[in-house]
Amino acid sequence: MALTTQEFAFVSGLVRREAAIVLDTGKEYLVEARLLPLSRRAGTDSVSAFVARAQRERALAEQIVDALTTNETSWMRDREPFTALTDVVLPEMRAQRSPAHRLRVWSAACSSGQEPYGLSMLLEDAGMPYEIHATDISSEMLERAKAGRYSQLEVNRGLPVPLLVKYFHRAGTEWEVSEALRRKITFQKLNLAAPLPSAQPFDVVFLRNVLIYFDIETKRAVLRGIRRLMRPDGWLFLGAAETTIGIDDGFDRVVAGRASAYRPRAAAGAPVNAMGRG
Ligand SMILES: C[S@@+](CC[C@H](N)C(=O)[O-])C[C@H]1O[C@@H](n2cnc3c(N)ncnc32)[C@H](O)[C@@H]1O
Repeated sequence: MALTTQEFAFVSGLVRREAAIVLDTGKEYLVEARLLPLSRRAGTDSVSAFVARAQRERALAEQIVDALTTNETSWMRDREPFTALTDVVLPEMRAQRSPAHRLRVWSAACSSGQEPYGLSMLLEDAGMPYEIHATDISSEMLERAKAGRYSQLEVNRGLPVPLLVKYFHRAGTEWEVSEALRRKITFQKLNLAAPLPSAQPFDVVFLRNVLIYFDIETKRAVLRGIRRLMRPDGWLFLGAAETTIGIDDGFDRVVAGRASAYRPRAAAGAPVNAMGRG
C-alpha cells in the first residue's frame, strides 16, 4: 500500500529536522523501499502502519532517520583525494609540523568505515603520528564501521591488494581490519547539521559525499562549523560533486595533485579561532 501524502510529509519532515536530509516529493518510492524492512522487523502490517507507530514511538522514528541516510561508499573512493593526501598534504605537514606533532584527521561522514580505515592505512605507511576521528549520524553504520569486518565483495570495491594483505586478516568468510589501525580511530555519532562540539583543531578533514543531501543553508552552516574546527593551514576534501564555491567564501579552492582541496582563507587581521563556535 502506497504512503499517503501526510505519511510522506511526516517522514520527510522528520528526516529534514533531524538529519537535514532533503527528501523532495517524488521520493515516495525510495521511502517505502527503505521502510519496508523496518516495518517487517517491527511486525507492523504495512509501511503506513509502521509510520503511524513511529509518530508515537521515538525509537522507531530514529530507525526511520537512520534508514533514510544513503551510505554508499568504497575504498579510496575516487582515488585522487587519497593520492593527494600522500603526495601533497603529508609532505607539506612533514615539512611544517614538528616530528612529534600528531596529525588530527576527521572523517566526517564515515559510513561503514572504508574512508577512515583507508586514510589510516596511508598514514601508517607514511610513518607519521596521527589520530583519526570518524563520525556519522547513522548508528547502524557506526556499528559496522567499529566492527571493521568486510565481505569479499566489499574489499573488492577499490582496496588495493597490497593494502588488503598488509592491514587485514581473515575472519571466517570476511576480512577484519588489523588492530594497528583500529586503535588509531575513534568512532562517534555526530549530526553535522547540529551545532558541532568543540574539539582540538584538525589538520585534515574528509567531508565527502554528504553535503549533497543538504539544502544550501545547511551546507553553509556545516562548512562554517567545520572551518572553525580546522587549523588555519588545514586541508578539506569534499566529494567530486561538492564544492565550497558560492556557499562559503571562507575557503580557497586549491589544486592538490589531481584533486581539488579547500583551505581556510586567511582573514586579514582576524586570526582563525579554531575552537570558536556560532
Ligand atoms: C554517501 S555516504 C559517504 C561516505 C563516505 N564519506 C564516502 O565518500 O564514501 C554519506 C554518509 O553521510 C551520513 N550522513 C547523512 N546525513 C548526515 C548528517 N546530518 N550528519 C552526519 N552524517 C550524515 C550518512 O549516514 C552516510 O553514511
